[in-house]
Amino acid sequence: MNIIESKFKTVLTYGTFDLLHYGHLEILRKASLLGDKLIVGVSTDKFNTIKGKTCVLPYQKRKDLLKSIEYVDKVIPEDNWDQKVTDIQDNNIDIFIMGDDWEGKFDELKKFCQVIYLPRTKGISSTKLKSILDD
Ligand code: CTP
Repeated sequence: MNIIESKFKTVLTYGTFDLLHYGHLEILRKASLLGDKLIVGVSTDKFNTIKGKTCVLPYQKRKDLLKSIEYVDKVIPEDNWDQKVTDIQDNNIDIFIMGDDWEGKFDELKKFCQVIYLPRTKGISSTKLKSILDD
């Protein structure tokens, strides 16, 4: 690894990102500032079913929205709970980011990269937006 490669940092985060909102933009903005490249793992529709989550927007639309954001360099599918170590290794990840609603849940990944939990933006969530749409 040369000196430029060793300073170049790649950041990884995951989420469902349904009905993309300001809280999502904030975590993506902050995550992008921690490195040079931001990769976002997006839960597929099949994985959401496993998690018991129903989305308003299908995977392709959630992916397209994320790809259009300037903070995001690459979007990858999240199919299962166990792919994180492989994703970290395959993409040379330096920093793993999640919102602090996941605080402590991914500490085992500290063996592979830095793990940072960022404060959630208050007052907004996909669940909240869905409840408004359902009214
Ligand atoms: N997130 C955040 N602030 C919010 C909502 C989400 O920082 N207000 C972060 C989460 O902590 C996670 C990422 O955004 O790291 C993707 O979260 P996701 O679960 O897709 O969004 P939510 O709005 O929390 O969705 P839901 O209501 O379905 O749980």
